[in-house]
Amino acid sequence: MERTLIIVKPDGVQRGLIGEILGRFERRGLKLAGLKLMRIPRETAERHYAEHAGKPFYEGLVSFITSGAVAVGVVEGLGAIAMVRAMMGATNPANAVPGTIRGDFAVTVSYNVIHGSDGPDSAQREIALFFTPSEIVEYERATDRWGTE
Ligand code: RTP
Ligand code: MG
Repeated sequence: MERTLIIVKPDGVQRGLIGEILGRFERRGLKLAGLKLMRIPRETAERHYAEHAGKPFYEGLVSFITSGAVAVGVVEGLGAIAMVRAMMGATNPANAVPGTIRGDFAVTVSYNVIHGSDGPDSAQREIALFFTPSEIVEYERATDRWGTE
């Protein structure tokens, strides 16, 4: 079982894609363990994207991710980290395969609709940045036993 952090970025929220994107994870069989709508404070955004500090796109990226409402979620399941990344598609939507979120809904790298943690360490770090332990909900779904052996 893994948990990963996803963010429907401000462009995704503005375009009314929260339900579409969360619905894809739900339909896949992944479970939402945390969910909130928020405006990301600048300090949180800078910590979230610390690995990109100093890169040419960093300032624009922080400005963009703090520019409007976002939906932040914790997605849980077997292999959830890689699965979510695969469902997101390539960072540059120009290279994202149709059927992926970016391949279906985005055109340019600056407006690529969704964030997902890129590995176990970043998933743990990012979940702790956006959610307190009590905001992560452990629960059983009646359908859980129909999706895993
Ligand atoms: P994310 O962190 O948002 O899930 O995206 P990612 O892992 O696929 O891509 P990453 O390399 O972590 O880059 C973070 C975000 O920065 C923007 N970016 N712009 N103009 C550029 O060359 C450029 N490169 C990256 C993208 O919005 C990317 O999602
Ligand atoms: Mg990244």
